[in-house]
Amino acid sequence: MAAPREQLGIVEAEGKSDRQGSSGVEVVLPSDLSTPAPMCPHGPTLLFVKVNQGKEETRRFYACSACRDRKDCNFFQWEDEKLSEARLAAREAHNRRCQPPLSRIQCVERYLRFIELPLSQRTFCQRCQQLLLPAEWEDHRGHQVVGDVSVTQLRRPSQLLYPLENKKTNAQYLFADRTCQFLIDLLCALGFRRALCVGTPRLHELIRLKASGDMKSNIKSLLLDIDFRYSQFYMEDSFCHYNMFNHHFFDGKAALEVCRTFLQEDKGEGVIMVTDPPFGGLVEPLAVTFKKLIAMWKEGQSQDNNPKELPIFWIFPYFFESRICQFFPSFCMLDYQVDYDNHALYKHGKTGRKQSPVRIFTNIPPSKIILPVEEGYRFCPLCQRYVSLENEHCEHCNSCTSKHGSTVAFATTVLFQIIPAKAQRMAALFVKKMFPEYIAIHKTARKQKQRKSNKMKMETTKGQSMNHTSVTRKKKRRERAHQYLCS
Ligand SMILES: C[S@@+](CC[C@H](N)C(=O)[O-])C[C@H]1O[C@@H](n2cnc3c(N)ncnc32)[C@H](O)[C@@H]1O
Repeated sequence: MAAPREQLGIVEAEGKSDRQGSSGVEVVLPSDLSTPAPMCPHGPTLLFVKVNQGKEETRRFYACSACRDRKDCNFFQWEDEKLSEARLAAREAHNRRCQPPLSRIQCVERYLRFIELPLSQRTFCQRCQQLLLPAEWEDHRGHQVVGDVSVTQLRRPSQLLYPLENKKTNAQYLFADRTCQFLIDLLCALGFRRALCVGTPRLHELIRLKASGDMKSNIKSLLLDIDFRYSQFYMEDSFCHYNMFNHHFFDGKAALEVCRTFLQEDKGEGVIMVTDPPFGGLVEPLAVTFKKLIAMWKEGQSQDNNPKELPIFWIFPYFFESRICQFFPSFCMLDYQVDYDNHALYKHGKTGRKQSPVRIFTNIPPSKIILPVEEGYRFCPLCQRYVSLENEHCEHCNSCTSKHGSTVAFATTVLFQIIPAKAQRMAALFVKKMFPEYIAIHKTARKQKQRKSNKMKMETTKGQSMNHTSVTRKKKRRERAHQYLCS
């Protein structure tokens, strides 16, 4: 049976910060579960519940944790469904068939044989996305093949492999050089010696490249990613085939131990986790996974009650701020705009059709993080952090509150302060079309603020009805603009 997640609008449900009255599908967190979840080819499945008008339906179901499209994984099982022995056996056989053809150790052996080949024999099949040994050439006759694969190419697999861009599974959007370089410089400046790269293959390869060429930045990196193609390029201690939505290591205990050793090296000192999950992914299962990785790191600490936290950079769109902070209250969002090579819309500054909404969430104090002044970031002495140039300090909130640079701020300021009513409506339509996430997320907050302000106004009216008329239209508009910008 096919999982109905897509029809139920799972992604849309996640995008909303306020779930009350919303419809869609929500995940049931593991602490609420009494029985272990059935397995699909991507490890333990997640339990979901359909929500209609804010009410949970009674029948819950299991579906794949990693694939948000049933075309990629069609696992579906009602929570209370009993399966026959025959169906269970068929499922196990299917799960086995879906696993990669080579074990992790076989991949490493192949890699070692490949790098010993003379340059003229090193080939890569673009159709099969595979490094080829001479004995395999015949099977790939007629395929598009890259020859003379150099050591430099082997060190940059994200340039040799094509990115898996399907939004509902991998969503493999690779950092632009600007962002990658910024992240690496930041890791060096903050003194980190190890980076656990969860779903950041390009960052991983650049950290390793820099470490091999520059003795001053000797950062080690371990990549955890669901994209098995990367296992052709790395030894066991630098890549684990991993599902970040259920903390599943496809190569079992051996891989889990690689990760544990990496996190606990030097008693856990000098390590950071950097993650850039697919944006369509649900925040809850990701948070559960990251807490498991944090716990693994903590086990290696000398004292149990050590208040230190595992430093984390979680890269995700800004409109997930409230969801992320719900799970990690110590996190704050940096103004830095993360941009991607292969995402036309999410670019930095004015080159993309939209400015990138992707930001860095972190538990590192923002006062320690210097954003590049040459790209238009400035230091706010009142907030003690770097912010984007357009993010003006608001004297009412006493902070630099804007989330999305100048465009929305400009549009909303214009909307409420300058133009006449008819044009305001047209401008509102424009903002709604260009920035749908902004509108969806801030609608509820605006309503609440509006209600509060109405209440306050009523109270003021009761006591000072004479003064009421003296409030000018312009002032009211300013207040509304302020609410809009600060919500
Ligand atoms: C938005 S891309 C981030 C890539 C990053 N910007 C970089 O350039 O290094 C998401 C990454 O997460 C990986 N990924 C997707 N689903 C995953 C899952 N369930 N578990 C682990 N990794 C996953 C993808 O293969 C991809 O590498």
